[in-house]
Amino acid sequence: MPSLSEETDGAVTMLEPGSTIGIVGGGQLGRMMALSARYHGFKVGVLDPTPDCPTAQVADFQITAAYDSKDAIRELAERSNVITYEFENVDADALDEVRDIVAVPQGTDLLRVTQDRVNEKRFVNDHGAATAPWKEVNGYEELTAALETIGYPAVLKTRSGGYDGHGQRVLRSESDLAEVRAQNSREGFFPPSILEGFVDFAFEASILISGNGHDFVTFPIVRNEHRNNILHLTLAPATVSHEVARDAEALALRLARGFELSGTLAIELFVTKDSQVIVNELAPRPHNSGHYTIEACSIDQFDAHVRGIAGWPLPKPKLLSPAVMVNVLGQHVMPTRALIGEHPEWCLHDYGKAEIKHNRKMGHITVLTSDIDGTVRDLESTGCWSDLA
Ligand SMILES: Nc1ncnc2c1ncn2[C@@H]1O[C@H](COP(=O)(O)OP(=O)(O)O)[C@@H](O)[C@H]1O
Ligand SMILES: [Mg+2]
Repeated sequence: MPSLSEETDGAVTMLEPGSTIGIVGGGQLGRMMALSARYHGFKVGVLDPTPDCPTAQVADFQITAAYDSKDAIRELAERSNVITYEFENVDADALDEVRDIVAVPQGTDLLRVTQDRVNEKRFVNDHGAATAPWKEVNGYEELTAALETIGYPAVLKTRSGGYDGHGQRVLRSESDLAEVRAQNSREGFFPPSILEGFVDFAFEASILISGNGHDFVTFPIVRNEHRNNILHLTLAPATVSHEVARDAEALALRLARGFELSGTLAIELFVTKDSQVIVNELAPRPHNSGHYTIEACSIDQFDAHVRGIAGWPLPKPKLLSPAVMVNVLGQHVMPTRALIGEHPEWCLHDYGKAEIKHNRKMGHITVLTSDIDGTVRDLESTGCWSDLA
């Protein structure tokens, strides 16, 4: 049985090709991890409730069951040498229970921190990185009190389970607060939440860092543009000063060391007009804003994730070309497919999802370019993304 990073007489053994990586979650991130695992010679198993999910299409086997099924997690563990995950809402206790039979190189602390916005903010602040001012709020009275210190505008978010803007609302005035109160009394339930000060950012950015438990490598800081709270464009690299790039890299390294990171971690950032770098949220996995790395970097975020969890050494990623990544949501599938023949420069990725739904992430396109603004204009002028204009 191949072993993982076991110290034997000072020698570190690494996961050998031929070993099996089990992935919890079978969406597009799992699929791209699996593709990377495959060409490193690893076998891949996936746990996902949807038969023939995007990852299963490129994996060796699928366990078709709910993510939180303890039996299914145990079966995946028994059939794998290493377990990883493609999303953060994995049952950390269930993973802890199988750590005697399978390696979980990312550990579960990383999950426990990143699946709870309060734990996450605390961790980030404790490691010397700035966040928006925040307060934990567990009811209407606490919310009112928190607003006295934080002030309007502020963002109320559920502590866990949110994504693509779900589970959050911006409070701009007392009338928004009154609405929260009305909803709260209608539902008779106030979910554990966090109130954050609204950051008046110049733009949003992200930085990815990957580790193998002791060595860490960063990718360049990139700029992200969202529409309707969903990532629309990533521009790589972000046009930032040397100081901003240095600050982002330094905070990424502090967080990675704090986690003794294995695999890839994404750090969503706000960059303010006075060049402050503020952490928005963390994702303990490859990230949509890192898809550009597949074509644009010397090693991509999925390779770095796979090598990291396998205990392999990590080369420093180099940006080989500036790039623009645009998401293909359900409503963009048909228009973009119709234009494939006219755009040889489009590196098109389709995630193989069975059902096309509005706003569902179905694929993405990366364009390598020497003129980021011109490429963004070219993409928008196709009209494929006109619903987001
Ligand atoms: N404190 C904040 N100040 C300003 N904008 C925010 C704040 N928090 C979130 N946003 C906006 O909402 C988006 C989604 O919030 P985020 O916390 O990243 O949650 P999600 O898990 O939905 O991605 C962010 O990308 C940003 O555009
Ligand atoms: Mg986010």
